Amino acid sequence: MNTVALSAEHLFKTYGEGDTAVHALNDVSFSMNVGEIVALLGPSGAGKSTLLTTLGLIQPPSSGTISIAGTRVFDNGYQVNIRDFRRNNIGFVFQKANLLPFLTAEENIRIAMEVNDASSRESKQYAAELLEHFELSARRTFLPKQLSGGQQQRVAIARALANKPSLLLADEPTAALDSHMGRKVMELLKNVAHTHHTAVLVVTHDHRAIDVFDRIWMMEDGKLSEKNRQD
Ligand SMILES: Nc1ncnc2c1ncn2[C@@H]1O[C@H](COP(=O)(O)OP(=O)(O)OP(=O)(O)O)[C@@H](O)[C@H]1O
Ligand SMILES: [Mg+2]
Repeated sequence: MNTVALSAEHLFKTYGEGDTAVHALNDVSFSMNVGEIVALLGPSGAGKSTLLTTLGLIQPPSSGTISIAGTRVFDNGYQVNIRDFRRNNIGFVFQKANLLPFLTAEENIRIAMEVNDASSRESKQYAAELLEHFELSARRTFLPKQLSGGQQQRVAIARALANKPSLLLADEPTAALDSHMGRKVMELLKNVAHTHHTAVLVVTHDHRAIDVFDRIWMMEDGKLSEKNRQD
């Protein structure tokens, strides 16, 4: 399969204006295929989080176009209802799991589906599948505070997948984990990309798990380039 899941053309994002303007995205163009997992590396302040939030329709670019799952979502303004589109097509994972503290692991996953109109039966069944896939079945009824950091992060990934997004965006998802668990979570993300046919874009500083990725991108001063593995 070689279908484009995500593409951007000539993305610019400028914060502020005049002397204090920051060109966080400076003519970024790329495309990602369905089922691909890509690492996004680069120094602090390079524009990595800006790229993720822009692709995730959390903030608009200053100019350029974004297409997700065959829909031109941004072209001189948003072309879709961003809240609906985001809910149906995009999953996010952040550095911290940010689970709802008063809900169990299972409920944290189910609620993401039920706010998206899934029936209770549907959400129960798919949450069980995800929990099984992430080796969390035995922790189904645990509250976040009863889970380890790695377990919480796996619940957060399961929750991000609950609505079967075509695009999963992860901003330093393993930063709070030790290197063993960090690697396991990266391998899970790879598995998600390859088996769920999701495009997975991961910002990471962790070079130890870099072999997990299909491609490696580098961001510097708002510019994106592809890295050769040998570099
Ligand atoms: N809301 C904002 N207002 C003004 N400038 C911003 C804003 N958000 C980010 N910037 C600037 O844009 C640039 C890129 O920031 P961004 O957060 O995308 O970097 P990053 O690559 O994710 O860095 P890090 O690795 O530290 O998370 C930085 O110079 C930052 O100061
Ligand atoms: Mg960042």
